[in-house]
Amino acid sequence: MDIRRSLNSQSLAEDAARYIAERIRKVIAKKGSCHLSLAGGGTPKTTYELLRQQPIDWSRLHIWFGDERCLPVGDSERNDTMVRLALLNHIPLPDNHVHPIPAERGATAAAAAYTKELSDIAGLDIILLGMGEDGHTASLFPENVALELSEAAVPVFDAPKPPAERVSLSLNFIRRAEERIILLSGAGKREILSRIIGGERFPASEVGTATWFVDAAASPDCRDC
Ligand code: 6PG
Repeated sequence: MDIRRSLNSQSLAEDAARYIAERIRKVIAKKGSCHLSLAGGGTPKTTYELLRQQPIDWSRLHIWFGDERCLPVGDSERNDTMVRLALLNHIPLPDNHVHPIPAERGATAAAAAYTKELSDIAGLDIILLGMGEDGHTASLFPENVALELSEAAVPVFDAPKPPAERVSLSLNFIRRAEERIILLSGAGKREILSRIIGGERFPASEVGTATWFVDAAASPDCRDC
């Protein structure tokens, strides 16, 4: 595992923002554009705020989402609401370069629609992910039937983290991305990361090779934090 340790959540956000920007620039230099999928939850918010200041040719970037909660557009608990407030409202990204998951339509219809939209591209270049204390990533939870589905985007009806109804990129699709970056912060994540380092398998450890950004509080070898 490629684990990069930062002192605290702020330096993790700074380190991750620099790294993500560097990877976006490399993809754009190589391919002329970059398809980046963003994580929801709370951890990446500061990283997105810092990403605004990075030197990126925003006109070449497409933003996708790793998962979305089935809530009305604009709901404060939607992942795309957080991403718009932290990043998209502050950068000159062409409107048609933002690809929200239409989760307001309900999980089944939204997953089908997003799978169709994703079929228009060869795949995602970079996927940013978080991880819950149970080892879930995106909206793929341990022992959930969604883990077995192979379409690009899949419906989830029984997520243990509310709201229960969500849409997620599938494990299969996440694995096919060129690169995965996982952000982990806080003492609450230390135990599950320790179990993953010890070889236990959870959805977050099954996404394929990934670069992990972890702060000291979440780091299992942290003695005095
Ligand atoms: C969601 C996220 C989810 C998140 C993890 C970690 O919709 O909740 O996509 O996968 O990344 O639960 O969340 P925190 O970063 O808030 O700990």
